[in-house]
Amino acid sequence: MPTVDNPTEKTLAELGIRDREAVIEEFAKIRERFDFQIGLPADEIRKLMLQEAWLGSESEPATSLRNFWVGRKRGVLALINDNWLKPAQPVLKPVVGAELNRLKTYIETRLEKKRLSLVEDQEKKSSAKDRVDLSLPGVIRPVGTHHLIRQVFQEIEDIFVSIGFSVVEGPEIETPYYNFEALNIPEFHPVRDDMDTFYLELPKGAPTPLLLRTHTSPVQIRTMEKRQPPVRVIVPGKVYRRDNPDATHSFMFHQIEGLAVDADITFCDFTGTIDYFVKQFFGESVKTRFRPSYFPFTEPSVEFDVSCVFCGGSGTAKSGGTCGKCKGSGWIELFGAGMVDPAVYGFVNYDPKKVSGFAFGIGIDRLAMLKYGIDDIQAFFQNDVRFLRQFP
Ligand code: FA5
Repeated sequence: MPTVDNPTEKTLAELGIRDREAVIEEFAKIRERFDFQIGLPADEIRKLMLQEAWLGSESEPATSLRNFWVGRKRGVLALINDNWLKPAQPVLKPVVGAELNRLKTYIETRLEKKRLSLVEDQEKKSSAKDRVDLSLPGVIRPVGTHHLIRQVFQEIEDIFVSIGFSVVEGPEIETPYYNFEALNIPEFHPVRDDMDTFYLELPKGAPTPLLLRTHTSPVQIRTMEKRQPPVRVIVPGKVYRRDNPDATHSFMFHQIEGLAVDADITFCDFTGTIDYFVKQFFGESVKTRFRPSYFPFTEPSVEFDVSCVFCGGSGTAKSGGTCGKCKGSGWIELFGAGMVDPAVYGFVNYDPKKVSGFAFGIGIDRLAMLKYGIDDIQAFFQNDVRFLRQFP
């Protein structure tokens, strides 16, 4: 609702204006009012339009100002035309007409200027809001690191590559032939019980069953099928077994296979290579030993032990009791190995009379647990960032 009287709603006669000077004076007052309004900042214009607006305008300041002054029906100029000029006494008409024309030009010109300056202000405001402050620090995205298992793989690969081994890989989905038979493990051999695994569901009539490999040893066969001696490879990769998860067992874990075959490789080459690797990996102070063991694809076969890194080989924990990691023996089993069984050469058309070699299969997860003092293999697979962050 308008709160200010609007003189242009009355006729000049009603306002008591009867001569030329009074007309000019009244027009001067209108112009003063216009000058006051147009000099206000946008917010003030908005406020003023709400309380003073005969039009009750709520639009943008520039538009409401325009409606207020030059609106067709209820604008000040239209009202002056209808209420002052039309009913004016003939003697006053020329002066009212002339004043009205001057006012019109004055208002039109200044309204346009004001509109432009309001638009400019608005643009400045919004561009200040959108402006990118280049001095602010950017969004810091955390950079990931290699998983500890990947780091250990890399460490082991580096050691073996430095003494002439190359890295090869093989499929995780295998045939029983490569996973067992060609490694001298025929069907119904009792060793298969230790390596029960997951079989793939295949359509009826598939040429061979497929399984998830239980060790990296099948890649020994695949490598020897493709290459003639000398062969010196290591094979990092994932393997699978139907083992129930506990602190040292997982149904998926990691191994590195090693294979060296040449004209006259002896058990000495084997022990020297393994000893070198272990000392590089664990440090010079660690003691090593071989124990007789059995694998169908190596002859003789050994288990390789290192002195317990937790109790220093004493068998006694720092707290005084029996060391829980080596169960008091002072030794921890690291991996299985041996000289390649001559029967295996028969599967890859090598002449067992001309070549000899050694092979080993290291469980990477348990090796990493030993080196870094991790007491539960499951920590590798739970992906708890509090654990992962400890190995940047
Ligand atoms: C083998 O897998 C043989 N292929 C190793 C080998 C290669 C022998 C070449 C001779 C010549 P074994 O079943 O012992 O061996 O497994 C090797 C290592 O894998 C173990 O020493 C252990 O560190 C790790 N391992 C075995 N089962 C699991 C499991 N369920 N979870 C985590 N690690 C395991």
